[in-house]
Amino acid sequence: MRSSNSNVHIIESGAKPSMLGQTGISMHCHSMHSKEILDFVPYYAERIPILSSVWKRKMRRFEESGGRLPNFNIGYWTPPLSGQQVYDSEASSIERLGLMPIVSVTDHDSIEAAVEIGEREPNRFAPISMEWTVPFGEAFFHLGVHNMPEDRAAEITKLLLDYTFDTDGPDDERLSELFSMMHDIPEMLIVLNHPIWDIEMIGQRKHEAALHDFLQKHGCWIHALEINGFRSMAENKAVTDLADACGLPLVSGGDRHCCQANTMINVTNATSFSEFVSEVRIDKKSEVVVLPDYHKPLPSRQLRSMSQILGVFPEFPDGRRSWSDRIYFDAEDGLGPRPMTEHWNGHLPGWTRVAMWTLKALSHEMLVPILGFTIGDNDIGRNDANVKTPPISFDDIVFADRQSFGKQKAFAAGQ
Ligand SMILES: [Fe+2]
Repeated sequence: MRSSNSNVHIIESGAKPSMLGQTGISMHCHSMHSKEILDFVPYYAERIPILSSVWKRKMRRFEESGGRLPNFNIGYWTPPLSGQQVYDSEASSIERLGLMPIVSVTDHDSIEAAVEIGEREPNRFAPISMEWTVPFGEAFFHLGVHNMPEDRAAEITKLLLDYTFDTDGPDDERLSELFSMMHDIPEMLIVLNHPIWDIEMIGQRKHEAALHDFLQKHGCWIHALEINGFRSMAENKAVTDLADACGLPLVSGGDRHCCQANTMINVTNATSFSEFVSEVRIDKKSEVVVLPDYHKPLPSRQLRSMSQILGVFPEFPDGRRSWSDRIYFDAEDGLGPRPMTEHWNGHLPGWTRVAMWTLKALSHEMLVPILGFTIGDNDIGRNDANVKTPPISFDDIVFADRQSFGKQKAFAAGQ
């Protein structure tokens, strides 16, 4: 395996990372164009102290009164900020570090934000990117697909999403074709985001086994692995070991969904995103900077995000102000997902106010040390400590040969 030239720099509050370069690159940000599934609601609500007892009591009463419990798997929420608001907020945060900003906004399976931002910002500072969902067996992976050529972005997006939502299910050969198509575009960057996170909740070890298989088959098309600003230090350390085993560079991904800026960026002397891509793809060079906010306990940052997801922003346009405008729920009445505000005819039930108050209280700065002491740096809802079997080893990973895929295709075409 080739070795990479990735460095991870942890900086103190007030320090400026300008000794590493003049440009700060923020990747992996979500805007209102991302649809996020709601399965986390019962998962978290049952685990957050105080909120859990209110939640359980209210749900029980709701059920006893004959109400049908909501199915959170068929609803979604959307982050509060528009694409341009995310861009502006990330750019300001990077400028405060004394760096020139480049921001790659990556909504789930959508380039709408990137297109919106592109109306104001030059493409070299605001590439067209998205976080592509790739089904793979029982698992799925999130690929940061960065810097699509402007004149092909719509076409590439359609091809990728046709694969994601194909009812025939995953197809390794088709997947390799899509990766190969993107790999052949030198300015594009393909990043495997938060690889070790069992985001599909099939079980940590099953996820790792799927990741092992995925990397053996498709790792040859991936240009970098992501360490993620919203995953724990322990998980990011495991990603670092994985990158070593695979000989892939590490890049940063903040994964912001709300108002707080990303806590991890790349620093470089590149003057455009395409230049940065060639550093990663060709030189395998990447300087990741971990900002001080990352070291606040993960649960408190998750709760702070959650209180913003569930916040009210009077200054926002109509239809985006209240959390109930931004959470869509399918009541299985044949009308499809509709904002919660519509379900409740504009009036929020009393229990939601209690839940909101609790979340906001738990995300208060004063509780940060207590959360750090009680939950540590673990994801608040998914406790990896419960997994008893040892992690899957990635030391034996051997990537499939990229060249042989090309030859197979040429052979098939010649027949
Ligand atoms: Fe993701």
